[in-house]
Amino acid sequence: MDGRTLRSEMEKQETKRDKKTKSTSYPERQLAKMLKSRPLKIPETNHHLIIGDSRRMHEIADESVHLIVTSPPYPMIELWDDLFSKMGCTDFQTMHVYLAQVWSECYRILMDGGIACINIGDALRKIDDTFQLYPNHVKVIEHCEALGFITLPYILWKKPTTRANAFLGSGFIPPNAYVTQDCEFILLFRKGQTRPFPPKDLIRYASHYTIKERNTWFSQIWQLPGARQKNRHVSRRVAAFPEEVAYRLIRMFSIIGDTVVDPFLGTGTTMKVAKETHRNSIGYEIDEKLVPVIETRLSDTDSLKPSRRRKVVEGLQISHQADTH
Ligand SMILES: C[S@@+](CC[C@H](N)C(=O)[O-])C[C@H]1O[C@@H](n2cnc3c(N)ncnc32)[C@H](O)[C@@H]1O
Repeated sequence: MDGRTLRSEMEKQETKRDKKTKSTSYPERQLAKMLKSRPLKIPETNHHLIIGDSRRMHEIADESVHLIVTSPPYPMIELWDDLFSKMGCTDFQTMHVYLAQVWSECYRILMDGGIACINIGDALRKIDDTFQLYPNHVKVIEHCEALGFITLPYILWKKPTTRANAFLGSGFIPPNAYVTQDCEFILLFRKGQTRPFPPKDLIRYASHYTIKERNTWFSQIWQLPGARQKNRHVSRRVAAFPEEVAYRLIRMFSIIGDTVVDPFLGTGTTMKVAKETHRNSIGYEIDEKLVPVIETRLSDTDSLKPSRRRKVVEGLQISHQADTH
């Protein structure tokens, strides 16, 4: 067999393999088999928005939640100065002590094997003539590990840098320029050991992802643009994350019918995606002015016909946190 024949034989084999893997993966084949003997019933889901402070999530029982997907206010980023100062936090350390109270509640409500996904960016800031990095991701890891969380490999979310002034420092001459900060972190933590499931759990198999999704989602760098939402002004004001971030995390780390909590709900991205992916959700938001935005986003659930949308908002339970302190 000469080189050319061998190459074309190998190409043929590869195409065959590609076709095979593209059409069916192991869970897809298993699911098809299982569905022959058992019908799949997708459970109805509930969505609860609590206007209140997630440093005390006493509406949620211990170990009752499967997944946390969230993005807190970022310490040392000007956008959040007012919120932190209202809470009495004026420096890097105290801002992280504030967030750590929420991480502690997340640890309490997560079940054994539950996962917390925390999106955070580092801050660059000049204080007293010193320009430096405030590594928020390091502080969150330190606090979460102190609470007992197990740190898992994290994701770097790389945003496109199209701004003309993206490069900071002294132009084209060394050595005083700064590396561009174009990545945020999606930190991943687990409480305890991995979640056990009975063998051939139908709902777990029905929640599988495809080979292509697995290859993209489980790689360490995600190249995604920022949030593009209808209410751009509000999205920017609360630094909303794109639906794709919540979508991937929910599909990667929970199954249909699970409960997902976002303790910093903002415009409601996590809740909207949880609804669309058949997970229950609970969201905490301290800023009551965001309620109409959250309602609108939920009524805009892509998978629903317009005639059913109003019902979704009616189905959303909204309550104010009981004042127990
Ligand atoms: C970065 S934003 C979240 C954006 C959200 N991921 C989205 O897609 O819209 C953080 C949110 O947390 C809220 N927040 C801050 N401290 C809080 C607390 N202790 N309890 C509840 N919400 C809080 C802020 O009002 C803000 O809306």
